[in-house]
Amino acid sequence: MKGLILVGGLGTQLRPLTLSKPKPLIDFGNQPTLLHLLELLKNAGVTEVVLAINYRAEIMTDFLEKHRDYGVKVTLSQETEPLGTAGPIALAKDLLDDGEPFFVLNCDVACDFSLRALLDFHNAHGKVGTIMVKSVDEPAMYGKSVVVAHETGLVDRFVEHGRTFAGNLINAGVYIFSPQIFERITLRPTSMEKEVLPELAAEEQLYSMPLDGYWMNIKTPKNFLHGTSHYLSHLRLHKPQSLAQESIATGNVIVDPSASIGKGCKIGPDVVIGAGCVVEDGVHLARCTLLEGCRVCSHAVVLDSILGWRSTVGCWARVEGVSVLGEDVHLEAELFVNGALILPHKTIDSSVSEPQIIM
Ligand code: GDD
Repeated sequence: MKGLILVGGLGTQLRPLTLSKPKPLIDFGNQPTLLHLLELLKNAGVTEVVLAINYRAEIMTDFLEKHRDYGVKVTLSQETEPLGTAGPIALAKDLLDDGEPFFVLNCDVACDFSLRALLDFHNAHGKVGTIMVKSVDEPAMYGKSVVVAHETGLVDRFVEHGRTFAGNLINAGVYIFSPQIFERITLRPTSMEKEVLPELAAEEQLYSMPLDGYWMNIKTPKNFLHGTSHYLSHLRLHKPQSLAQESIATGNVIVDPSASIGKGCKIGPDVVIGAGCVVEDGVHLARCTLLEGCRVCSHAVVLDSILGWRSTVGCWARVEGVSVLGEDVHLEAELFVNGALILPHKTIDSSVSEPQIIM
């Protein structure tokens, strides 16, 4: 079986991190999002995956070279202009079309559920497409459309967010299509959400299936942090051995084995500490991710924030309010940083007390 992952978005809402790496290659829970998705597909019996890409292909090629023994064959399908969220399916037709249904995934979803169950449901109803939907409290936080479906799963329509409440089922960015989909998508920039799915729904060719496991789109720093907390809770239930022991952490925390943690620290809940990070004595970390190679100096506090690769936080400094430090950012001692997005390779020597972008 085959699958396609849409990896062509620019990831603008996850800047400054996406200034250094394409979004699918950014570690989420100490593993690139792309590997989480490849694992999901592999577990469903997928043997060949097409990555639909439109920029910085060389970074993706290098990455795939390093992971070539991953256990699924991965091929790049490169666009010469952005083809949107459906056009890449037409471009990759020759790679995908083996007469069988295939999966399509957005690259910015963090989730766990059975793609096999999706396949079985799809085969049982026999229509062209099935879309996974998630019930959420605030639909506007996640995507552009709400899915209105019958109890059987048959999709009635897609509704753009408006003033009136249409429902709280959103498109989870996970689909399966039968090969007839190739007759409906031509090679031009095309939107899955605005063109293909509404048309399928209008012709009663689209079913939906609720996603029961955890799900989050990790498009923005806030969602990235929320998604991390869901992911860590999921590990607590299914893989508790991958979480840090209570002797060093409170709640759900992952610490890469190559990271070091000093004495008297307060770590957790919902913390991810990446490879080679150094957390000095007396540090407090909660609801945050430290990407590879960061250093948090003694008695600093990092809450609700993401530290980019090889960044440092000086002694007694405090970072909070969904701040994101880009790659190689250095905060001097005793500063206060609240809600700042700091672009890569900067040294910060004065506090940033209100949310802002530091170029
Ligand atoms: N190859 C390729 N080419 N991929 C693209 C392109 C393109 O031109 N444009 C976007 N993508 C990829 C992105 O990388 C992402 O994986 C996916 O398509 C969807 O990206 P967006 O168009 O930015 O949509 P969104 O994230 O705001 O919303 C989507 O996901 C939500 C769930 O997370 C939509 O599918 C929503 O309906 C959905 O609710």
